[in-house]
Amino acid sequence: MGDRQSFEKWKERTEEEIKKRPERKEKFLTSSSIEIDPVYIPDNIDKRYLDNIGFPGDFPYTRGVRRTMYRGRFWTMRQYAGFGSAKETNKRFKYLLEQGQTGLSVAFDLPTQIGYDSDDPMSLGEVGKVGVAIDSLEDMEILFNGISLDEVSTSMTINAPAAVLLAMYIVVAEKQGVPKEKIQGTIQNDILKEYIARGTYIFPPKPSMRLITDIFAYCTENTPKFNTISISGYHIREAGSTAVQELAFTLSNAIAYVDSALEAGLDIDNFAPRLAFFFNGHNQFFEEIAKFRAARRMWANIMRDKYGAKNAKSMQLRFHTQVAGSTLTAQQPDNNIVRVAIQALAAALGGTQSLHTNAKDEALALPTEDSARIALRTQQIIANETGVADTIDPLGGSYYIEFLTDELEKKAYEYIEEIEKRGGAVAAVEQQYMQKEIQRAAYETQKRQEKQEEIVVGVNKYQLDDEPQPELLRVDDSLVDDQLARLQGTRANRNEEKVKAALTQLKTAAEGTENLMPFIIEAVKQYTTIGEICHTLREVFGEY
Ligand code: 3HC
Repeated sequence: MGDRQSFEKWKERTEEEIKKRPERKEKFLTSSSIEIDPVYIPDNIDKRYLDNIGFPGDFPYTRGVRRTMYRGRFWTMRQYAGFGSAKETNKRFKYLLEQGQTGLSVAFDLPTQIGYDSDDPMSLGEVGKVGVAIDSLEDMEILFNGISLDEVSTSMTINAPAAVLLAMYIVVAEKQGVPKEKIQGTIQNDILKEYIARGTYIFPPKPSMRLITDIFAYCTENTPKFNTISISGYHIREAGSTAVQELAFTLSNAIAYVDSALEAGLDIDNFAPRLAFFFNGHNQFFEEIAKFRAARRMWANIMRDKYGAKNAKSMQLRFHTQVAGSTLTAQQPDNNIVRVAIQALAAALGGTQSLHTNAKDEALALPTEDSARIALRTQQIIANETGVADTIDPLGGSYYIEFLTDELEKKAYEYIEEIEKRGGAVAAVEQQYMQKEIQRAAYETQKRQEKQEEIVVGVNKYQLDDEPQPELLRVDDSLVDDQLARLQGTRANRNEEKVKAALTQLKTAAEGTENLMPFIIEAVKQYTTIGEICHTLREVFGEY
């Protein structure tokens, strides 16, 4: 019978938790009134089971990071959104919240992401295009106008200038009367994947890592409910990597961030609980579910055995999933609703904490309100109508899933060892190692698709002769003029003396070793722009 009492103990602790935080329902039943247990386990609980699979909310978290998982709370439905001006995006945020999304996720335009103001020559043609234009605190106040920051958690997809947007968010919350200790959310703040796959970096690796660990240190002290980084595999996969590479390179980057924080003198169990992750939800259904399960088990073992973490929260890999934008086809866009649904189902069966579902038209343009609503409805249907949220890790124990979980873990560790041998992720990035591995994988995929060994429905098989033209979102260019006019007004109405003083103090601090967050917060308070702050840092750190 093996170790039954370990399961009895798990049930007791879970009952304890449910007393504090009840599950969504008194009873979970199938359509035939069969009662659904929280989790299903083998008759024989042996050491191998406990070491490799275990119970939800227990080390090594293979079956999920929380004891009750979705029986306690659905994953956060967090749709990535942002375009044009803060006013436009504020309207879309409110629409999505009205339609039932449970978390915010800000998409910034490229000038914001690489630290240029909207009126910088470098920004021409990009203002408000792939996300919202944010130049100063004024835009941020408009972005969250009427949205109370003690009621939502907000993810911000910002990396090189992450400290600036975090500072703005803290100040907007304070102006709303929400103390920084209460703000919830995540700053992506993952520069290594920018060098590897996404490209929105500004500074060289060393000063970039310093800014990241400054955020770790500042948030541990001041914003304990805010996740300080979202270590991303999403873009690595979007660049064409395999699932194994996505898993391995993300965890290698995570190891580099932990090493950097330890070198900066931070305590592992202080900063590690607020590290978060972000993975891709791709096409190979079972491989994706196994990837998420392997990621949790690997991280738990790495944090316990490599770093000696003691706090359970340090070992729990909490992640967001965005389903794969790269699988969306421009052809027959309605087919994308089916792809997204299946990919989202894999994320739910894989135990994601937060989920973004792509809209059907995103291979063609930013989503219309209708296509954004269908994307959100997709995850609401999976959560409420299918029963997959009513028991934990339902595919756990499947011969195929456990085999794949073990295989992905084994292959990912091989890559991690290779990267550690090369001096770690920062060195491997500088050697272009991960980039080359990804390019090779992308090339192999391209060849398979060209030879029809890999079918993309509507693209290399089952095509239509004449494609109906869908209704697409058009971002009105006059928004740019409004943005430029507002930016001019911001500069005219602020106190130039205080702006200059704030930038001078920031520069001096950047030349030293002090934590830059307080200086950036002061500069932001004076309506100093993101371009002015980043140019000051460029003078000290240089550009990569
Ligand atoms: N029992 C008890 N408590 C529970 C629970 C349960 N079953 N489920 C949730 N909770 C609690 C949690 O403890 C948490 O409280 P805490 O913060 O005090 O621990 C609270 O409820 C919220 O739950 P989660 O933390 O699980 O969910 P969140 O949604 O708040 O956080 C996350 C999820 C992954 C940790 C976080 O980092 C996150 O939200 N990430 C989102 C990242 C994102 O959206 N990125 C978008 C990037 S877009 C992009 O880059 C692609 C573009 O380039 C194309």
